[in-house]
Amino acid sequence: MWYNTKATEMLGIQYPILQGPFGGNLSSVELVATVSNAGGLGGYGAYTLSPQEIVEVDKQIKAATNKPYNINLWVSDSDAPGGTVSDEQYEQAKQLFKPYFDETGIALPEKPAPFKSRFENQLQAIIDIKPKVFSFMFGTLSADVLEQCRRLGIKTVGAATTVDEAVLLENSGVDMIIASGFEAGGHRPSFLASAESSITGTFVLLQLIKEKVKIPVIAAGGIANGKGVAAALALGASAAQIGTAFLATDESNALPIHKQILFSDAAKHTTLSRAFTGRLGRGVTSRIAKDMMYKETAFLPFPLQSTFMAPLRKAALEQEKWDMILFWGGQIAPILKYTKAKELMRSLIEETTTYFNDLKA
Ligand SMILES: Cc1cc2nc3c(=O)[nH]c(=O)nc-3n(C[C@H](O)[C@H](O)[C@H](O)COP(=O)(O)O)c2cc1C
Repeated sequence: MWYNTKATEMLGIQYPILQGPFGGNLSSVELVATVSNAGGLGGYGAYTLSPQEIVEVDKQIKAATNKPYNINLWVSDSDAPGGTVSDEQYEQAKQLFKPYFDETGIALPEKPAPFKSRFENQLQAIIDIKPKVFSFMFGTLSADVLEQCRRLGIKTVGAATTVDEAVLLENSGVDMIIASGFEAGGHRPSFLASAESSITGTFVLLQLIKEKVKIPVIAAGGIANGKGVAAALALGASAAQIGTAFLATDESNALPIHKQILFSDAAKHTTLSRAFTGRLGRGVTSRIAKDMMYKETAFLPFPLQSTFMAPLRKAALEQEKWDMILFWGGQIAPILKYTKAKELMRSLIEETTTYFNDLKA
């Protein structure tokens, strides 16, 4: 059967369909459990959570499903040396953002205290809770940690945007690789070359990576229906990871307006930009996304750009100024149909099955 792949065998799931984890408080226990209970692999993006919060979320997931699930972290969570920027750099960003703060009538924020990486402590929480699957982006793990995960029965999955990243991930000893194409919603997980120079579509990237690595590869980016899953499998993927289509379902933690926008005509246009966090990511094109084009030199490095974007987003939401917000989403959004995660899973499975049965007929 089409659904018996190396990935399903290793992950202990029935169907090679992964719900992409969403960082930034957009994941939900309900979505993870719905997808895992339907035979796929639910994923929870935990990079903004404290270690205690990760433990708590894990308890809730375990209470909602006895099936395998994935917890996701960011291996690198800052691009600012020492977690800060110079006063001049901060002033420049302040000037860039001033018109938007004036428009929403809120005060410009003061320069924050240096950002401290949370990754090491978060990693310890993962080791303690031992999820069946631990996926991560923006790099790889040390040989020691990967060995520890192997001993504990945790399958490790790293994300690649280039062949070089995939080869590095394989050589480091991860169990599987996500081939993350530029169509995908959310951040580009590049970690060797710049994200801007690592822009390859999912189905090209998948084939290039398949030529060079032996471990299973999961296709991510631009897949939202059974035909997409079948296409990924036909090109050698061992599973498909689907983000935007699950983000739009009732079960995700995205705001109702975010879901509404993903199902609207506005989602026909998406933009890859560093404006929102300081790292390159794809979201639905808005006025602020357009305004910020070619102004990168004034942006702050990740995660400090959020010093401005987070309060602005909050005020814009309160004032219903949707064009001042970036709603994350991928290029495939215009074909989305389902608002229930269970229905989406059922349709993905049925459509892929039909596709492969028709080939045999
Ligand atoms: C809002 C949003 C947040 C995301 N956050 C993460 C994350 O924290 N970690 C991660 O590995 N992938 C993250 N992703 C990527 C997804 O897990 C998935 O690989 C991607 O969305 C697949 O492409 P698609 O959106 O075209 O389906 C995110 C995607 C979106 C849309």
